[in-house]
Amino acid sequence: MTALLYLTLVSSLSFQFCSCASSPWRTMITGSHMRAEDHDKIFLLSPDATFSCGFHQLGTNAFTFSIWYTNTTEKTVVWTANPYSPATGYFPVNLYGSRVSLGHDGNLVLTDTNGTTVWESKTSSGKNTTVTLLDTGNLVINDSSNNIVWQSFHSPTDTLLPWQKLTKDGRLVSGYHHLYFDNDNVLRLLYDGPEITSIYWPSPDYKAETNGRSRFNSTRIAFLDDKGNFVSSDEFKIEATDSGPGIKRRITIDYDGNFRMYSLNESTGNWTVTGQAVIQMCYVHGLCGKNGICDYAGGLRCRCPPGYVMVDPTDWNKGCKPTFTVDSNRSQGDFTFIKQPRADFYGFDLGYNKSISFEACQTICLNSSSCLSFTYKGGDGLCYTKGLLYNGQVYPYFPGDNYMKVPKNLSSSTPSISKQESLTCNPSDSEIMLVSASMYGTEKDTIKWAYFYVFAAVLGGLESLVIVTGCVMVDQRQVDFPEFVQGAKHILAVGNATDLVDDRLHGHFHQEQAITMVKVAVSCLEERSKRPTMDEIVKTLMLCDDEDDFHPAYSY
Ligand SMILES: *[C@@H]1O[C@H](CO)[C@@H](O)[C@H](O)[C@H]1NC(C)=O
Ligand SMILES: *[C@@H]1O[C@H](CO)[C@@H](O)[C@H](O)[C@H]1NC(C)=O
Ligand SMILES: *[C@@H]1O[C@H](CO)[C@@H](O)[C@H](O)[C@H]1NC(C)=O
Ligand SMILES: *[C@@H]1O[C@H](CO)[C@@H](O)[C@H](O)[C@H]1NC(C)=O
Ligand SMILES: *[C@@H]1O[C@H](CO)[C@@H](O)[C@H](O)[C@H]1NC(C)=O
Ligand SMILES: *[C@@H]1O[C@H](CO)[C@@H](O)[C@H](O)[C@H]1NC(C)=O
Ligand SMILES: *[C@@H]1O[C@H](CO)[C@@H](O)[C@H](O)[C@H]1NC(C)=O
Ligand SMILES: *[C@@H]1O[C@H](CO)[C@@H](O)[C@H](O)[C@H]1NC(C)=O
Ligand SMILES: *[C@@H]1O[C@H](CO)[C@@H](O)[C@H](O)[C@H]1NC(C)=O
Ligand SMILES: *[C@@H]1O[C@H](CO)[C@@H](O)[C@H](O)[C@H]1NC(C)=O
Ligand SMILES: *[C@@H]1O[C@H](CO)[C@@H](O)[C@H](O)[C@H]1NC(C)=O
Repeated sequence: MTALLYLTLVSSLSFQFCSCASSPWRTMITGSHMRAEDHDKIFLLSPDATFSCGFHQLGTNAFTFSIWYTNTTEKTVVWTANPYSPATGYFPVNLYGSRVSLGHDGNLVLTDTNGTTVWESKTSSGKNTTVTLLDTGNLVINDSSNNIVWQSFHSPTDTLLPWQKLTKDGRLVSGYHHLYFDNDNVLRLLYDGPEITSIYWPSPDYKAETNGRSRFNSTRIAFLDDKGNFVSSDEFKIEATDSGPGIKRRITIDYDGNFRMYSLNESTGNWTVTGQAVIQMCYVHGLCGKNGICDYAGGLRCRCPPGYVMVDPTDWNKGCKPTFTVDSNRSQGDFTFIKQPRADFYGFDLGYNKSISFEACQTICLNSSSCLSFTYKGGDGLCYTKGLLYNGQVYPYFPGDNYMKVPKNLSSSTPSISKQESLTCNPSDSEIMLVSASMYGTEKDTIKWAYFYVFAAVLGGLESLVIVTGCVMVDQRQVDFPEFVQGAKHILAVGNATDLVDDRLHGHFHQEQAITMVKVAVSCLEERSKRPTMDEIVKTLMLCDDEDDFHPAYSY
């Protein structure tokens, strides 16, 4: 009640003292200020009203000083003065209180509730300085002779507007992803995470020229023109699919690490993607986190390699962690390898050997306690041992395979990797599961497991897969998927699994078998003592097979 009264009071006061909030300014003059109390109101409007500038609210009491498109369905912020240090207030005494003031010294300053400077333009153009938002979306500070002394176009955040130049001094940043000009004049995308830094675009496997870039133009300028052509001095180009004048566009580096061109449909206020840099999302580094593997099959999918589980089931960026240790005290005889067809972890090679046999490559990795995995390309006998597993990906046409080093006792029975060659199946996800499955015993069991895993993959996607692998391979309760369990229990109650089964099966599955699978998956989530043994699971699945032939179809 008190807080409500207080807020009412604040808003009436703001009307009394700051009529600017109800009708936006065209120009800000020295000695005036904008207040966070009037957040989300427009302080400055560009002459044709396309762009607005003011406080943008981020939480209940955090604000940024930003520029946004005036008329879009979802508020589209194109520039922020203080992206990493929002101005905050204190509830309820001084919830807002942040200010953007243009001092008589000509400095535009954003201050916090307590007067701390959060951001400043560092201009000193004195009296008669003005701040204007132009039709291009550029916020400019002019001195008394109307010369521009500062402009927002020179310090982009995650977006480039038409005619805004990305130069050697600027970069677009979103999370850990950066778009910038590298030292060799090439425009690149970089993942700069807490542990590693790696370039993912253009392909780091090829020379600039092979990627269609020039290293010899040192102007280092990229910009979007008014017809939808994004051109860079290294000869990279994107042409909008709706190319032509008169359309409002922007280039934004998105949270997923790709950078895209968007066009505004002014009748709906919606944005449409009309061009992008990284077509195949798995090429963006960092998306599936450390140890994670990105598998692109019509959409982005992350998974953990065998023996690994998600660090945080709600966030793939945090990647996967091993359920075992590879320390120097464990003898090499404790380990074996699980094949991941056509997979590779890009970079971080411990070493590289040419023209050696698969066995020799395996021995090198077994011999080193730092080796977590190796990638082998049979054609040239190329062997890459890996000490860190980042940028994991399944490539559709990769001429090699990755082998994960896991303890032999990850399962109770003797692994039989040799079976992997005969157990080929599409897609690669299933193949890996088959390999894991082949660790559990007889051929009949293996096939059973193959079905089990494939079906697990099919059941609602990766979560259930993790549950099943988690239960079977790891015997640790590190994953909890309340939603899956809830959904699964509903299925058991109604006796119909259709909702949980992947659409790609087009209804070609056996209802009872599906329900058995769900039961098994759910039982795997029980308390340790209540969980079925491997034998019981296998028997359950055997029974299920005796009733009917079970041939899961898993195709794209
Ligand atoms: C914003 O949308 C309103 C309503 O659709 C329209 O009248 C106005 O002209 C638009 N303004 C701009 C700048 O597009
Ligand atoms: C002012 O507030 C900021 C956070 O909003 C805080 O970091 C800073 O220490 C405060 N300064 C003083 C002098 O209280
Ligand atoms: C500011 O503008 C006023 C009115 O245009 C003018 O008289 C004054 O000389 C200007 N001051 C400076 C420092 O330019
Ligand atoms: C500031 O300079 C820009 C560029 O010359 C101009 O478009 C704008 O109108 C100026 N602002 C004011 C208040 O005159
Ligand atoms: C270098 O790039 C700039 C900007 O794209 C372009 O105007 C210029 O013609 C280029 N120079 C050469 C020698 O290609
Ligand atoms: C804008 O959206 C409407 C409704 O979806 C559609 O009919 C129209 O063709 C779109 N305009 C453009 C230029 O894409
Ligand atoms: C486009 O905008 C309208 C509202 O203007 C909204 O209802 C609709 O969901 C949007 N369509 C898409 C595909 O985003
Ligand atoms: C390996 O064994 C030695 C001696 O038993 C012990 O001091 C050391 O802590 C062990 N290292 C690890 C990583 O467990
Ligand atoms: C692999 O390469 C390393 C480093 O070049 C070399 O020392 C080692 O002998 C090679 N191993 C084999 C089996 O060729
Ligand atoms: C593996 O280690 C053993 C014992 O340290 C050594 O004799 C052997 O040469 C090593 N093999 C390779 C391929 O490095
Ligand atoms: C596997 O073996 C290691 C070392 O011998 C042991 O520490 C670990 O507990 C074993 N794990 C399982 C699941 O049996």
